[in-house]
Amino acid sequence: MNNILIVGSGGREHALGWKLSQSNKVNKIYFAPGNGGTSINIDIQVDDVDQLLEFAINNNCFTIVGPEVPLKLGIVDKFLANNLKIFGPTQIAAKLETSKSWAKNFMQKYNIPTAKFEIFDNYESAIKHVRVVSYPIVIKADGLASGKGVFICNNFQDSSFVLDKMFLKHNFGNAGNKILIEEYLHGRELSYIILSDGETIIPMETSKDYKRIFDRDKGDNTGGMGSYSPADIDIGIQKQLQQMMKNVIHYMKNMGMPFVGFLYAGIIIHNNIPYVLEFNARMGDPECQSIMMRLQSDLYDYLLACVNGKLANMPKLNWNPKHAVCVVLASDGYPNNYSKHEIIYGCNSILDCNNMIFHAGTRKINNVLTTNGGRVLGVVGLDNDRKLAATRAYNTSRKIKWKSKYNRTDIGYN
Ligand code: AMP
Ligand code: GLY
Repeated sequence: MNNILIVGSGGREHALGWKLSQSNKVNKIYFAPGNGGTSINIDIQVDDVDQLLEFAINNNCFTIVGPEVPLKLGIVDKFLANNLKIFGPTQIAAKLETSKSWAKNFMQKYNIPTAKFEIFDNYESAIKHVRVVSYPIVIKADGLASGKGVFICNNFQDSSFVLDKMFLKHNFGNAGNKILIEEYLHGRELSYIILSDGETIIPMETSKDYKRIFDRDKGDNTGGMGSYSPADIDIGIQKQLQQMMKNVIHYMKNMGMPFVGFLYAGIIIHNNIPYVLEFNARMGDPECQSIMMRLQSDLYDYLLACVNGKLANMPKLNWNPKHAVCVVLASDGYPNNYSKHEIIYGCNSILDCNNMIFHAGTRKINNVLTTNGGRVLGVVGLDNDRKLAATRAYNTSRKIKWKSKYNRTDIGYN
């Protein structure tokens, strides 16, 4: 029996822990720092790599990294140097996510379809460019911005507002010191996520998330307001995506930076060709919540096979053929300012294998559950088709209440 340390505090980490708890090879599961729905919680933040290392050594843990921040800080390199088992990419391999400009240059070099782009590191040249470009365009902060550093601009005024925020007001800190300006691609989006041990890949089931804050994909980009799995894409596109990810893993290995972990490609199908919008060096949130509800294999075996370089020996993953829909319940005002510490009611509804509540921005003190973040809960429904699954998720969501609760009403329906 093995102890697990899950680094992170979101719905993704709750879902990974829930799945791992079903393995008979897993003993204790620790979450650092975890949330109001997880246990056993350890009071160590995700960027405190030294303390996490000490905890993992003292408790003999296999560590699983949820979010991108500790990957960027080199948590995997440090744990490996101490002979600890850890699931996730090294600092240099995580550049696929931590620097959008690095990832775009990688895609260009290896002919991976992606939107045309230019990179700018100062306000003057960027503003000159947006005066003459044809609209719409997409402006992206180069560094990490929790999914909130991407702006679709329809005219010069929009662009000038965004460039002002990035370069002059420094709203994105160092992440916005370098930016990308991309052509806007029309099309349907999906998330394509694989497991890799640096050489072999095993795809997860397809999924889709809803990035925008308001119904019908209006308003600001967020970390994700809902998800479903499977995404409806044909088998031909799936085969192309699988080959593309195999190639990425192969090129990374050849460059001396093998990628071990979950690799996530944000895809847009434009003119029937899958273009990569971004790579993430981790599981998606809230895609993970929908995907974990459908996974039937023992996740522990696969994560261990990845860190041991043994994925080629593993059979395909088994999936529940039902559809999963995850509705994110957020605090009104997210992804900008929102209130915290509001009491959450109705979260103890009876759940079963077709209905789960994964916690994200919650905190439990003396058995009182309160809000503690922008995305608060993810409610997942599982059913024979996507609409039924969505209805199941919304029926449970309606029973949960707090003062500034907000959710989209169209997740899974369009
Ligand atoms: P990213 O973080 O790069 O995946 O961007 C977040 C979201 O912005 C994507 O899921 C898309 O909805 C949108 N987006 C980003 N880049 C483009 C693009 N080149 N064309 C159209 N939409 C985009
Ligand atoms: N849901 C998008 C992400 O995890 O980046």
